[in-house]
Amino acid sequence: MRIVLVGPPGAGKGTQAQRLKDYLGVAHLSTGEMLREAHQAGTALGRQAAEYFEAGRLVPDDVVVGIVADRLNEADCADGCVFDGFPRTVAQAETLDAMLAERDMPVDLAIAVEVPESEVFQRLAARGRADDHVETVRERMGHYRRLTQPILEYYHDQGVLRSIDGTGTPDEVFARIRRTVDTARQTAS
Ligand code: AP5
Ligand code: MG
Repeated sequence: MRIVLVGPPGAGKGTQAQRLKDYLGVAHLSTGEMLREAHQAGTALGRQAAEYFEAGRLVPDDVVVGIVADRLNEADCADGCVFDGFPRTVAQAETLDAMLAERDMPVDLAIAVEVPESEVFQRLAARGRADDHVETVRERMGHYRRLTQPILEYYHDQGVLRSIDGTGTPDEVFARIRRTVDTARQTAS
């Protein structure tokens, strides 16, 4: 299965992707993690990306699409993948569809993880990642609303969008995601 997790910063995409990956035995693809790793490794791509993510802005589509294309060629993606933080623009969603079509592997499910903005700010203030300063979170939220939320309509039009309540404990949220995924699997089989 290929599942896209969509949600604002701090929605719990990473937390839930980890659980879903273990539950389904598929790969976990987080563009945010990959960009931070590239920056820590000191690569040219990482340095270029950091100028954007440290300011809370989206890294350009061509940079992100390049790293995803490489990652999709790795063996663990063959059986399925949980996409966390990608796609983040309609252009990225279209490119992902094109890349997956070449492999005859569509996106099966896009799960919107819904968390109120006030809770996002609370969660990220408590975490304190380099891009979790309140001003940067505001910037990230703005980009989410303008550039990422339109992909919800994109997946809705494809008939693969499901929304879940992202509040409560991580276990409670995962139970909702698991039900959604199990239902989709039963319908497909
Ligand atoms: P990315 O790393 O994807 O960050 P994000 O989307 O802003 O989201 P976070 O990782 O902060 O939150 P999350 O939803 O994963 O939640 P988490 O589980 O961590 O991207 C970072 C940057 O990279 C972007 O701003 C951009 O610059 C760039 N980038 C990445 N992908 C890109 C792309 N495709 N295109 C262009 N640019 C891209 O949880 C958050 C916190 O809440 C944690 O402390 C967690 O412990 C806690 N928490 C989780 N669940 C719960 C719960 N149920 N209750 C209470 N606390 C919880
Ligand atoms: Mg994350």
